[in-house]
Amino acid sequence: MNLSDEEQNEVLKVMKSQMLTLLHGEFVKKFEEEFARYIGVKHAIAVNTGTAALHIAIAALDIGPGDEVIVPPFTFIATASSILHNNAIPIFADIDDKSYTLDPDSVKEKITEKTKAIIPVHLAGIGADTSALVDIAKDNDLYIIEDAAQSIGTKCYNKKVGAIGNIGCFSFYPSKNMTTGEGGMITTDDDVLAEQCRLLRHHGEPEWYVYNRLGYNYRMTEIQGAIGRVQLKRINGFIESRNKNAQYLSKGISEISGILTPFIPEYCEPAFNYWIGRINPEILGLTKPQFLKAFPRSKVLYPKPLYKTKLFQEKIAYTRGCPWSCPFYGKEIDYKKDNLPRVEKITQEIFALDIHPNVSKELLDENIEIMKNIAKK
Ligand SMILES: Cc1ncc(COP(=O)(O)O)c(C=O)c1O
Repeated sequence: MNLSDEEQNEVLKVMKSQMLTLLHGEFVKKFEEEFARYIGVKHAIAVNTGTAALHIAIAALDIGPGDEVIVPPFTFIATASSILHNNAIPIFADIDDKSYTLDPDSVKEKITEKTKAIIPVHLAGIGADTSALVDIAKDNDLYIIEDAAQSIGTKCYNKKVGAIGNIGCFSFYPSKNMTTGEGGMITTDDDVLAEQCRLLRHHGEPEWYVYNRLGYNYRMTEIQGAIGRVQLKRINGFIESRNKNAQYLSKGISEISGILTPFIPEYCEPAFNYWIGRINPEILGLTKPQFLKAFPRSKVLYPKPLYKTKLFQEKIAYTRGCPWSCPFYGKEIDYKKDNLPRVEKITQEIFALDIHPNVSKELLDENIEIMKNIAKK
């Protein structure tokens, strides 16, 4: 987290205004306009978390019972749980061996007559192959919902993520490239979708006591909006530090064998969120648990594919009916049969390191030394 006096001053302005909700204030509205400009879209809709952004985005596209949505299994739970919250069915496709983002060929294999959308996750600041995925979506009449929670500022094919698919979702959780404490944003160029997202965010209520559809209270507060506006002004500096730190780590261990550094696809201009390393257990002579024990500061990062977790293995969501046992679906899904070879292997080999702007050069050097020593042994 990186909060300066300017965020504090803006928060004080909100306090002094006595207007703490977006229904009465101006900060969130301005933050939305500024964020839309930054991403390069017509509309930005601020919400209280990235999870809420995904929940609303899927609902706005009218995806529900009986519908399938293709997602990677190597991601934060909200990418998939937001589909379940809409009573629809997550279908897992494999990830690319180098970028660890959704593999377009695997996506193609997973499309059925029930598929409505694809959710590519731009992981840790590295973008998914949006060109291939958009082509697949066009060919099969599917929506693209970009989960850009971890990649604020990343570009794919010269376009910012969140401006490429039908709709984009961001998180401002403290670990992200910019923060509002908790918070999220939805981005889109589509006027109708934007309108639906605004309705869904606020009880389906366009004006007092008029209820046009089932909605939620997912509103961002004015204090979050005030912090967000300042953070957005500082985003380029944050990204520069993170990219520099990532590069420094990668360069520092470029000579050693047994640990792979993050791969940057040609189409991608990264905005690194964290640094993903990958061990080669044969070369290192260490399993992932042994490596993590030798390097306790490193982070586990998605220890198993999502479909291997209890939620999916035992299908514990709503207690009756949809999403899984659903008359609109007409088939039965068994995640116990899922076995995607790349993600199974990658989850056994991956770890993460912090590279946020407050990480010192000394800490980066220490991490490089630790990795070099592990490789030497
Ligand atoms: C890929 C991904 N999607 C969705 C989310 C959900 O965001 P939030 O924690 O703001 O609900 C996160 C973040 O934590 C994330 O990393």
